[in-house]
Amino acid sequence: MLLLFKNTVGRKIVMAVTGLLMFGFIIGHLLGNTTIFTGPDGINAYAEKLRNLGPLIWIMRVIMLVMVSLHVFFGVQITLEDNAAKPGSYAMKRNLRSTFASRSMIWTGLLIAGYLIYHLLQFTFHVINPEISSMKNFDSLGRHDVFSMLVHGFQSVLVSSVYIAAMIAVALHLAHGIQSLFQTLGLNNDSSLPAIEKAGLITAVILFLGYVSIPAAILAGIVK
Ligand code: HEM
Repeated sequence: MLLLFKNTVGRKIVMAVTGLLMFGFIIGHLLGNTTIFTGPDGINAYAEKLRNLGPLIWIMRVIMLVMVSLHVFFGVQITLEDNAAKPGSYAMKRNLRSTFASRSMIWTGLLIAGYLIYHLLQFTFHVINPEISSMKNFDSLGRHDVFSMLVHGFQSVLVSSVYIAAMIAVALHLAHGIQSLFQTLGLNNDSSLPAIEKAGLITAVILFLGYVSIPAAILAGIVK
């Protein structure tokens, strides 16, 4: 097990598997969040169902925390080691195929980590803007009023801008991350690579539009 963490291929596999699980979370989280378009009843009922999962939700939270920690730890470690290595002919050759998304993985990754802390402090722990995201807010059925929390939160241009900027980082990270995942798990070859790159890009754009649609609809007064 320890060898896996020291070995370059082993660490890439950990990055790919943790990345895949978080990718699954990002899809599920977006699907859950889009219930906001069905009104307060939709998203408040959805949030209540999640809370009623009880210990299961805590198990999922611990798994996610381990996944994020491993992904960030090895991501930083691999980047530091790559940067310390002398740029030889291999690095030069590799740069020919690199894209902005691939070169900025460490930066978009660290931005997402920073965003995640902000996001949890705001909507889960209610430390940032407690006046708009207070747990004391309940709807008429006694459920936590997640709908009002999001509407009040995103009515602030500043809050919405932070989210939209973070979603750009998520999209860039995924655009390269998805194809990298296929590469590490050996699921691509020279002929399938262009199609996988395209699929990664399209998926990233769809997720970006999906996530951004929420603050955008609130700012535009469509969801209120
Ligand atoms: C417009 C974009 C987003 C919206 C509206 C949103 C909304 C929310 C809300 C309302 C909660 C709290 C749920 C509750 O306590 O009832 C939450 C939790 C969370 N969000 Fe987001 N989110 C967004 C984007 C993201 C992204 C891109 C990520 C990942 C990179 C993310 C990761 C999380 C995590 C890890 C939690 C904690 C889940 C838990 O309670 O265990 N969110 N989000």
